[in-house]
Amino acid sequence: MNYPRPASARIIGTGMYVPRRVMTNEDFARIVDTSDEWITQRTGMKERRIAEHDQATSDLAYEACRQALEAAAVDPRDVDLVICATITADNTLPATACWLQDRLGCTRAGAFDLTAACSGHIYALAQARAAVLSGQARTVLVTSAEILSSITDYADRSTCVLFGDGAGAAVVQASDEPDTGILYTTLYADGSGGTMMILPAGGSRRPPSHETVAQRLHYMHIRGREVFRFAVLKMQELIEECLRACRLTVDQVRLVIPHQVNTRIISAATSRMGFPPEKVFLNIAKYGNTGGASVAMAHHEAIQEGRLGPGDVAFLVAFGGGLTWASMLLRY
Ligand code: ACO
Repeated sequence: MNYPRPASARIIGTGMYVPRRVMTNEDFARIVDTSDEWITQRTGMKERRIAEHDQATSDLAYEACRQALEAAAVDPRDVDLVICATITADNTLPATACWLQDRLGCTRAGAFDLTAACSGHIYALAQARAAVLSGQARTVLVTSAEILSSITDYADRSTCVLFGDGAGAAVVQASDEPDTGILYTTLYADGSGGTMMILPAGGSRRPPSHETVAQRLHYMHIRGREVFRFAVLKMQELIEECLRACRLTVDQVRLVIPHQVNTRIISAATSRMGFPPEKVFLNIAKYGNTGGASVAMAHHEAIQEGRLGPGDVAFLVAFGGGLTWASMLLRY
């Protein structure tokens, strides 16, 4: 599986899928001490989608992948690699990407999962780009999918209102056209902040037991205020670094597509960097924070809504558990 090195790696098709069931702010007000007003003002979220009990992450990802392959007009048998970014894998073993590889009929492809929490989609696209530019792969299917409702504590009002379920996908392919597609990417991590967003039990550190379940340790534990500060700072740094490295001005960027974490975080960082609101893509009101799927879904919807045309430059930016943070610049 070795190809001549191409001039660039481009995203040639995207897709997304969200479960049908909608959970509104009013629904939360019926189960915890909260209100539509508090959630809307503090987060920008109005509703989110919640998977059915018989749906797994690969079921959501499968629909998004099929759409992306169709949009890209790629036969699944021509896919060289399937990468699934998720923190809510169907199983710890095997990889969710392997379930997808089989179900989609990507019979020639390698497959693996990648864990970078909310930065997952950009991390996965960066691996796809590297595989394509090195000649290891010609076509890579990337999907970022989460059922965060499966690790959300619906008794904790400070976290439960934040999360939703969904999946996005993108097909990355080799291109002979230079200076197009994925132009630039940065990936960062700081494990010293690992406990800021953590699922304390269920892994090898604390295997599942009656005790860990009774202590609700299989749910996400988050220090929201610290995440808030970290996210505003890193988002600004990532934007600054990318504009400088690519010698671009704010005017030359058509759209910023950020991780849909909180409208206050997003607007604090982007307005400080000089981006007007119309250059920042938001769909957080409809879906909440869908983890790694968030940037993938936002990117897909931005394309569907005609917000990106030929020659346009888009900037993807995300941060999440790990801690991880990442950015990517695309030219259409
Ligand atoms: N409804 C009503 N009141 C609430 C709720 C709620 N759902 N949640 C918290 N409160 C209360 C708190 O108890 C606190 O009350 P107190 O002042 O009496 O102690 C008050 O509201 C303010 O709490 P803060 O935590 O200071 O609220 P803040 O304005 O920081 O908003 C939020 C909280 C929305 C979580 C914000 O900090 C945030 O967006 N943080 C980053 C987001 C985040 O952590 N996302 C998860 C990332 S992990 C991942 O993506 C997989």
